[in-house]
Amino acid sequence: MKGLRTMTATGHPAAHPTGFDLACGDHYFSALPWAEGVMRLEWTGESKPPPTPAVVQGQDRELRFDVRELLDGWRVSVPGLSMRVQTDPLSFAWRLAGGEPLFGPVMVGMKAGRLVLAGPLKAGDAFFGLGEKPGYLDRRGRTYEMWTTDNTGPHVETDDRLYQAIPFLVTQHAGRFCGLLFDDPGRTAFDLGAAHPDGWHFQADGASLRLWVITGPSLRDVLRRYAALTGKIALPPRWALGYHQSRWSYTSGAEVEALAAQFRGRRIPADAVHLDIDYMDGYRVFTWHPERFPDPKGLHERLLARGFRTVAIVDPGVKVDPGYAVYDEVRGRRLDVRLADGRPFVGKVWPGECVFPDFLRADTRAAWARHHAALFEAGVAGIWCDMNEPSVFRGPAVPRAEQTMPDDATHGPPDAPIPHRRAHNLYGLHMAEAAQAAFDTLTPDLRAFVISRAGFAGIQRHAMVWTGDNHSIWAHLEQGIAMCLGLGLSGVPFVGPDVGGFSGDCTPELLVRWTQAGALTPFFRNHSALGTRAQEPWAFGIQVEALVRAAIELRYRLLPYIYTCFRAATEDGLPVMRPMMLDYGDHPASHALADQYLFGRDLLVAPICRPGATHRMVWFPPGVWHAFDGDEAFVGPGFQVVEAPLARLPLFVRGGAMLPLGPVIQHTGEPMPELTLRAYPGADFEGAWYDDDGETIGYHCGAYSDWRWIGRERDGGLEIVQAALHGGWRGPTQQVRLVLPLAIAGATWEGAEVAVDGTAVVLPLAPGTLRLSLPTA
Ligand code: GLC
Repeated sequence: MKGLRTMTATGHPAAHPTGFDLACGDHYFSALPWAEGVMRLEWTGESKPPPTPAVVQGQDRELRFDVRELLDGWRVSVPGLSMRVQTDPLSFAWRLAGGEPLFGPVMVGMKAGRLVLAGPLKAGDAFFGLGEKPGYLDRRGRTYEMWTTDNTGPHVETDDRLYQAIPFLVTQHAGRFCGLLFDDPGRTAFDLGAAHPDGWHFQADGASLRLWVITGPSLRDVLRRYAALTGKIALPPRWALGYHQSRWSYTSGAEVEALAAQFRGRRIPADAVHLDIDYMDGYRVFTWHPERFPDPKGLHERLLARGFRTVAIVDPGVKVDPGYAVYDEVRGRRLDVRLADGRPFVGKVWPGECVFPDFLRADTRAAWARHHAALFEAGVAGIWCDMNEPSVFRGPAVPRAEQTMPDDATHGPPDAPIPHRRAHNLYGLHMAEAAQAAFDTLTPDLRAFVISRAGFAGIQRHAMVWTGDNHSIWAHLEQGIAMCLGLGLSGVPFVGPDVGGFSGDCTPELLVRWTQAGALTPFFRNHSALGTRAQEPWAFGIQVEALVRAAIELRYRLLPYIYTCFRAATEDGLPVMRPMMLDYGDHPASHALADQYLFGRDLLVAPICRPGATHRMVWFPPGVWHAFDGDEAFVGPGFQVVEAPLARLPLFVRGGAMLPLGPVIQHTGEPMPELTLRAYPGADFEGAWYDDDGETIGYHCGAYSDWRWIGRERDGGLEIVQAALHGGWRGPTQQVRLVLPLAIAGATWEGAEVAVDGTAVVLPLAPGTLRLSLPTA
């Protein structure tokens, strides 16, 4: 890299049982063992890199740490990960414990006052992660900047700055993966083979940097360790996994009720309505418009009786309006962001002139959390944090192109001010943290549901992420899939785009295809902008409505499976919507696939993203894959053409899966007396179903059930074991309808006969063994 001044060790390294330190001119370098397969590296320039909220895993102080001097440098190791340090010039290379190369060499130097890491790229090297970026899975060949931005788009690959800034990069070299978390909340930049196809570099915001190195060697290992380091999602309430309807804006309580009545009258399942900015009184956060929403409590009671929750938008801008309680508190207690000269920063957003709470401060977050009472007391069930990049339309020194606070605005307590440029990327995460704190303090027994547009590494602990203001264009249907996959590869499993597209007018066919895809993204919300054509399910006549209804019904049938996948994500941190390469990385054909994906382990989703398309190519992994809604089976590995008339989402089930399915219900509050367990032939059968009360945190104390099924061929028949790995919860589900791909001749359940109906047998939901005999040919 031109102009790079590389670093060299200027003293003998200090190796001690707990770390490895090295002076390099005016820099100081240290390596700290953190966890198995994880090391923390720090370069201290004129100051230490400041702490950020990214990492929540504490250091494992029992960890074995080994430092050895070699002929040409040092080797520093923790179990699973070793690092070669060369001292002149300073460079690093990471390896597995057995010496197999993971990534490197990485040179370290300074350019224009910024710390730079740089290295060569080989053919076949690839990069993943970096959060919410337009483009495809492999980030190689482009530049990226980390600076949370309200990008009104249209979002395209060549303009990568969007709402999230997650500086977590996964490298792939020689078939092995390694994670690098550049834990710097400032404006950082990545060049991944753009300026020179055979080299990459990273520029920190200043002269210091904290870098977490996470070993694979598999992509799964990297993601699991990253999730342990930065936190996993909490289990969302079950209703949040249903269908959400939104619009900027449903402008009155009467309109919201009429909307809910439309859904129920038309028998289109739905669980949530979103209240965009017009529910407020003059866009004052935590208020209700007195005429248009005169009785929010009554409204919510009536909505809940129909099985609807609401999610209310909350923007950070607090209207300058003495006498308005939120403004008075923020200003009175000096909880707001200040200009460099100490005056409050006042900028324009929806309400006009606003002050902005300084979410970096714990006292601001606590005060903000309390104000949510105005929403929760009315019955609001979810909080939608928007504009938290922070987005500022106009104001003193507001950079035109970026529409945010000036770099030298200040955050933090007055005695330890932090310039905005060092805090910018953290603002959204801390706002989401405050919203989550609102749930924890005001409704402590209920699960939180927080949506956040902006965030930093670790955002998944506080909120789910939607991909912001996309457009109603086919390209964004396809790009939204890749963006969600990229977020999943960056520790954020609960994601989704605005179904139907936000800006611009949706078309009937686009709405059908987008709803089909949305039924199989973790978050499923139709949302659109002010002034655009209506895109509620019935907006385009009854034929389109029937197709949209069918897609939403599919979502509800799949909910027991989807809920089980979310529970797994709370434990392993892996994405629920996952690139093919995560499970089938041994097959190079899977690596670039960003328009098809797996939902959990058992479903393969291949949405249609082109107008008029009635067929598409699908890559099938090894094994047999069955059409979810038909008789066809496809044997992988390999590409095949599948049929996809407008009524059909190409959806396939792994052979051997036993998929837990529910009935079509109108909302998640309807009980499910019977679970359907549908088995698809392939290898031995295996199924899982997680269940709990769906809304409280009782599952933390064991109030959940975890059912497993295993089916094996035995004595010419089938033996299916139904077991409860955990049985701390008993809901309304009493029986299991087991649907097999074969005719059943007879069945015994613990010695007694059970009713057989063609290919289905109904058994009680209780541990036991089912023996099935099959008709002889
Ligand atoms: C922002 C949000 C969008 C919302 C609008 C009005 O553009 O991204 O979802 O509808 O603001 O609040």
